[in-house]
Amino acid sequence: MIKVVILGAGNVAIHLAKAFQNASGVKIVQRYNQSERNNSEFDPLIPFTKDLKKLDVADVYILSITDDAVADFSKKLKFKNGVVAHTSGSLSIDALQCKARKGVFYPLQTFTKEKKIDFKNIPICLETKNNDDLLLLKDLAGSISDKVYELNSQQREKLHIAAVFANNFSNHMFKIAYDLCESNQINFDILKPLILETAKKIENISPEMAQTGPAKRKDKKTIQKHLSQLEGIQKEIYILVTKSITETYSHGKEL
Ligand SMILES: NC(=O)c1ccc[n+]([C@@H]2O[C@H](COP(=O)([O-])OP(=O)(O)OC[C@H]3O[C@@H](n4cnc5c(N)ncnc54)[C@H](OP(=O)(O)O)[C@@H]3O)[C@@H](O)[C@H]2O)c1
Repeated sequence: MIKVVILGAGNVAIHLAKAFQNASGVKIVQRYNQSERNNSEFDPLIPFTKDLKKLDVADVYILSITDDAVADFSKKLKFKNGVVAHTSGSLSIDALQCKARKGVFYPLQTFTKEKKIDFKNIPICLETKNNDDLLLLKDLAGSISDKVYELNSQQREKLHIAAVFANNFSNHMFKIAYDLCESNQINFDILKPLILETAKKIENISPEMAQTGPAKRKDKKTIQKHLSQLEGIQKEIYILVTKSITETYSHGKEL
């Protein structure tokens, strides 16, 4: 049985706690948060503390707090037993300044407490300082997910940037598309099959192969027509992304 303490009570902590509770071979022995916020999101049977001096003994301490707080907070963890693993995509393993062994347990997905999530398909990226700890975190991650990866801090940092492009930026594109629809009395639902197909397509072919549209075709008249109807930041984004697409497919040729 892997004993786990969860530190933090935000989006990730809430979902991890639910997943661990349904997993076999894992027991959440305690949770900690600096405040009582979100307490109602957790099973009341899990013992809760706000006092770091009262932390229970565990094999793994999942530290799922705001990135900026991880370094200073981890200094306050004075115990030497177990592995303290943060859940951040962008922080190095050495951001942890605790006395205990260090690890990373990064679930690559977007979490909000309101949205139910199935952990089985969520990639969990692990990093440790030694093989025994890696095996321990692999057991823990494997209890909730079928997709467990080992990545070092440098790789995870790059993966995090890739995830920002893949998720945050593409979602912002959806938002711009939404605004354009709304300001022209078009129901955004019309675009949903296209958005879903765009994501589905890359399950079978590479994003480079999947690209279509005026920028790839170098359809200058259409591009000019679109630009004449855009302004401000939307126009700037259109120009920049169009440049990136045309450069990708120009293969060194003059545009
Ligand atoms: N959300 C995602 O989609 C996602 C995905 C993968 C990884 N992550 C990573 O998971 C971690 C947690 O993210 P989240 O989205 O769950 O955050 P969140 O919902 O904003 O929750 C932040 C947590 O940090 C605590 N906290 C803030 N400042 C603190 C401090 N100075 N000392 C101690 N605790 C402090 C908060 O306490 P209070 O409740 O008292 O405010 C809260 O429990 C981050 O490292 C993030 O990068 C997030």
